Amino acid sequence: MPEVKIGLQDVVIATSDICAIDGQKGTLVYRGYDIHDLAGHATFEEVVYLLWYGRLPTADELEELELQLTGNRSVPPEILDFLKRFPASPEPMEILRTAVSALSLYDPEASDMSEEANRRKALRLTAQMSTLVAAYGRIRQGREAISPVPKLNHAANFLYMLNGRTPDDESARWFEIALILHADHSYNSSTFAARVTASTLSDLHSAITTGIGTLKGPLHGGANEQVMKMLLEIQAPERVDDYIHSLLAQKQKVMGFGHRVYRTEDPRATVLRKMSEGLGVRAGQTKWFEISKRIEDLMIREKNINANVDFYSASAYYVLGIPLDLFPLVFALSRISGWTAHVLEQYANNKLIRPLAEYTGPQNRKYVPIDQRG
Ligand code: COA
Repeated sequence: MPEVKIGLQDVVIATSDICAIDGQKGTLVYRGYDIHDLAGHATFEEVVYLLWYGRLPTADELEELELQLTGNRSVPPEILDFLKRFPASPEPMEILRTAVSALSLYDPEASDMSEEANRRKALRLTAQMSTLVAAYGRIRQGREAISPVPKLNHAANFLYMLNGRTPDDESARWFEIALILHADHSYNSSTFAARVTASTLSDLHSAITTGIGTLKGPLHGGANEQVMKMLLEIQAPERVDDYIHSLLAQKQKVMGFGHRVYRTEDPRATVLRKMSEGLGVRAGQTKWFEISKRIEDLMIREKNINANVDFYSASAYYVLGIPLDLFPLVFALSRISGWTAHVLEQYANNKLIRPLAEYTGPQNRKYVPIDQRG
């Protein structure tokens, strides 16, 4: 029996051309481009194209993608109706998971497994997911969903559809950078799960539904919401030390810290730290950044554990007016671009993903009739 690697830690299970992470150096690269380069210059739409096609688009290709996204943002009215009928959920990721699964029932190409149809579905899902999240954010408050507007890009459209007003350029750009940073992360748990589903040659909506269900967990995309709950509980920088010491004394995890792959700073956290600070200063709400910075300093000083992508995104999203229980959904509406890129890559060169487990249960038992069991 080969060596058992619990949690698949450090196991290389496939090759991929999409995303490279160097956990020792703290680098993240999409298709050969460093994440800092992309966050500094690219639009989210360019990054989506890059992830799907392996290269940056020409001006014409980008314009075509933007037009396609704009033309596909609307969600079928039946799905909006579903959102109104669903019972309120303390975990809106349940709503997203269910709504995305239901979208396949209204997608005429849902079971068409041709590459062209899968690319069109990837585009539709990417366009529709942000509309879904924003619509749910309003519908659950008894407000009407707002239709997307063609003149705004993907990032600005989401904030507009959620908050009902066009965001200022700086907020929209920061949010776009957050989307770029969350777009892909190699074989993270949700992407891996989506690829497992795709590897059975199940359809794209099923693979993405799997991804959403996996992202939902607090050890993955659910961590950003937990971070903000912690910041709200702490409320003041001078209360940080007692709060965190108490968590650590109880052997509890501090949400937003630690990573399976990075042994140094997560490069996304470097950018998000600036975003949290910049947005906080602009909004006159520096408290959340100050509390975060103090937690980070303590965690590095005393535990040598770094912040991950979910730590500073929490305070940044909060200042942007995004309700905290929607934070994991915001993660999903960016990661859909990476999930779909990976599912397309899986279909293009498929091999069923089916590992082994070492059996450690009882052996050689004999069936005992029910009336003879003690
Ligand atoms: N707070 C406190 N201690 C932490 C920690 C955290 N956030 N993350 C890791 N550690 C400690 C563990 O207690 C463990 O210590 P031990 O060896 O003394 O028991 C050690 O670091 C290794 O952690 P482990 O959970 O085994 O590593 P992992 O690779 O399996 O887990 C995470 C990685 C991300 C799941 C883990 O760091 C975590 O739970 N973080 C909080 C949730 C989070 O922010 N998730 C988003 C990830 S992007």
